[in-house]
Amino acid sequence: MARRPLLAGNWKMHKTASEATKLVQQLAYSYDDAYAGVDVVVCPPFTALRSAQVTLDFDTSSPIRIGAQDVFWEPSGAYTGAISAAMLRDVACRFCIVGHSERRMYFHETDEDVARKAAALIGEGIAPILCCGETIETRESGRTLAFVTAQIKAALSLLSASDAEPVVVAYEPVWAIGTGRTPTPEQADEVCAAIRDTYRELYGVAAGEALRILYGGSMNVGNVDAFRAMPNIDGGLVGGASLKAEDFMALVKAFS
Ligand code: 13P
Repeated sequence: MARRPLLAGNWKMHKTASEATKLVQQLAYSYDDAYAGVDVVVCPPFTALRSAQVTLDFDTSSPIRIGAQDVFWEPSGAYTGAISAAMLRDVACRFCIVGHSERRMYFHETDEDVARKAAALIGEGIAPILCCGETIETRESGRTLAFVTAQIKAALSLLSASDAEPVVVAYEPVWAIGTGRTPTPEQADEVCAAIRDTYRELYGVAAGEALRILYGGSMNVGNVDAFRAMPNIDGGLVGGASLKAEDFMALVKAFS
């Protein structure tokens, strides 16, 4: 079954609102109809979501979509600093990254938190991009597949089969993020295949086939073709290379 590729740029803590406007404009201008078969998503920081959305709305033909980098699971209330799924929907977010290893590492997010965030997003019609991935110690001890599939099962634990339909999974080995090191495409595909098997076990054969799985971690113009060629990799979650329009669009082109 042909899955529609998805390229998402995770801008992390980069770009002010005005810088985001400029980058989104550059992306919109360099978008080509030849990329129409690929879903293109940018995930700016919270403070730039609105300006990114307004910029894309202005260009009414732009198919580029907006995503957020995080969400809190409660719908509203006394949660200083937090942003709800309804607030993200209000600024036209279609996607939201959850469980990124940087959130797990610096903000102590647990698998339970990730599950609650995913459920809150689904409740607002936003597709979670569920991140998973092993540390170098886990890889070297041969526990990668068990670790990653456990992360995915935990993240999906609150979702029924119909809830889980919009979910996208991003496999990001922690040791490959921002380091210039990557697994071989075959190693990455092995993990993505295990994720697909897990999904199939949970939600059935058709759901497993339909699940989009992204690779993330030092993806760039030089290595994208090798990842794209793998049967279980349907796109990328891109950090550093998403901050320059030319680089990001070259990755979109590779998946077109
Ligand atoms: P880099 O592409 O900078 O390695 O970051 C990957 C990532 O963490 C995307 O979420």
